[in-house]
Amino acid sequence: MSQVTNTVRFVLDGKIVEAVGVRRTTTVLDYLREDLHRTGTKEGCAEGDCGACVVLVGELNDAGDGVNYISTNSCMQLLPSLDGKSLKTVESLKRANGTLHPVQEAMATCFGTQCGFCTPGIVMSLTGLVQTLPKPNRDQINDALSGNLCRCTGYKPIVDATMQACSSSPAALKIEDKQDIALLKEIRRAKVPTFSLDGDIIVQPVLRTRKGNEFVAPATVDEVADYLQKHPKATIVAGSTEIGLQVNKQFVRPDHVLYVGNVAEMKSISVKNKAWHIGAAVSLTQVQELVSQAYPDFAEVLRRFGSPPIRSTATLAGNIANGSPIGDSMPCLLALGATLTLRKGDKTREVKLENFYTGMKKSVLAEGEFIETVVIPQPATGSTFRAHKISKRFDQDISATVCAMNFELVNGKFKNVKLAYNGLSPYPSRAPKLEAIIEGNTPANITNDALDAAITSSFPARDGLRATWAYRSLVARNLVMQFIEEATHSTSNVKEAA
Ligand SMILES: Cc1cc2nc3c(=O)[nH]c(=O)nc-3n(C[C@H](O)[C@H](O)[C@H](O)COP(=O)(O)OP(=O)(O)OC[C@H]3O[C@@H](n4cnc5c(N)ncnc54)[C@H](O)[C@@H]3O)c2cc1C
Ligand code: FES
Ligand code: FES
Repeated sequence: MSQVTNTVRFVLDGKIVEAVGVRRTTTVLDYLREDLHRTGTKEGCAEGDCGACVVLVGELNDAGDGVNYISTNSCMQLLPSLDGKSLKTVESLKRANGTLHPVQEAMATCFGTQCGFCTPGIVMSLTGLVQTLPKPNRDQINDALSGNLCRCTGYKPIVDATMQACSSSPAALKIEDKQDIALLKEIRRAKVPTFSLDGDIIVQPVLRTRKGNEFVAPATVDEVADYLQKHPKATIVAGSTEIGLQVNKQFVRPDHVLYVGNVAEMKSISVKNKAWHIGAAVSLTQVQELVSQAYPDFAEVLRRFGSPPIRSTATLAGNIANGSPIGDSMPCLLALGATLTLRKGDKTREVKLENFYTGMKKSVLAEGEFIETVVIPQPATGSTFRAHKISKRFDQDISATVCAMNFELVNGKFKNVKLAYNGLSPYPSRAPKLEAIIEGNTPANITNDALDAAITSSFPARDGLRATWAYRSLVARNLVMQFIEEATHSTSNVKEAA
């Protein structure tokens, strides 16, 4: 039965930890190091970039007979969001018989560590990888390490160590967690709302202070809607990859925190009317997998979004609601004609993403309203979707721009063109003047000059931290030209094949 508590309860290596009297914004990293003195997990940057703090967070699987893990940056995650879950740190990997996990053993024997500061985070990222992929190839290992910085060893010995570790049996690579399963069931919270005698929803807090400030983690979307009606200024936390930064770097301390990561409806994906309805708490890792066949370029943009420990919790809704001018998912979603389902109380409304923003970090979202679902159309027959992210580094970098374009090529002419960018204007947006140049035209009739003129008249010419205007506007045009050029070739390939 669900009950009011001021204690965060989670499972750590076969024991229930009761964290009493912690703040709403205490991070998992701070609690580990300062309260539990588990100092294997390191703090490098406290902003999700270095990976020294990577841990694994586990949840009971649907069958209730195993634990699903994600690797995540403990510096970004708020401790109360762990309530009802399990945690594994580098200290957890020591086997009952005192031996090391194969990944740790191989890191030592392959000289994968020097100063050792990055090593616990790297070990945890790799251990997370091999839970679901016991025989990864070098590319998959590199990808898993894209959020872990090592300044002394270099990555080759680390990748070699992983390959060596993976010569062990999949069973040997598994985390020892048999004892955790019963405990996870014991601390599981109710999956249905609690009602007062009058039939009102009561959202039980994980933490509440005497002043009435609290951290809530409801299980249903009705509770989310109800809570926001009563506390319209509450801070919604989904993946916490923006909020964690605000807590660590701007010392933001919200009075009411509403964590949506346990809400079943918001964690689910369904298909209706040839569109994916993606709940607002679905992680980018899941979205990347979902769109990988239909929209490989979108999946590639997401592969370069932060790093695996960021994508394991970060959401599309968080990216959209945050509304950064350089948010990476939005150009793709705009070109695909995505729609948002916004909910306030019992009422929902559909808003096209292209009508969502009203200015820099401003949107039509009303107080007490939230994004319930992001709706992405599945590919229409004959349509092509292209997207590319330009950034200084390939991995784990903020974009200079993302360009995304969806179109059909009918009898050699472009039709139904949707083209969108980030990084060029105060919020990610479509580019109607460029679309007009392409729509109804043949590839040969679309010129650099026409596109350049449309870019100049559409966007403010501003140099930014990530790129000068001269560079941004040039790549903005070149990406379109590249998509056009490649579309022409693939069409002629189709003709040849026919
Ligand atoms: C190391 C690092 C790398 C990053 N790399 C990238 C990158 O490559 N590209 C990029 O675009 N971004 C990047 N980001 C930014 C961030 O990861 C994204 O914006 C992410 O999508 C935010 O999602 P979240 O679920 O973590 O949001 P949260 O931090 O949980 O929330 C972000 C904002 O959205 C609001 N919100 C969340 N859910 C809802 C909802 N359902 N309804 C209404 N409001 C809501 C919150 O109140 C908050 O204001 C990076 C961040 C870090 C720390
Ligand atoms: S401390 Fe650097 S990612 Fe967490
Ligand atoms: S071993 Fe020193 S930072 Fe990686």
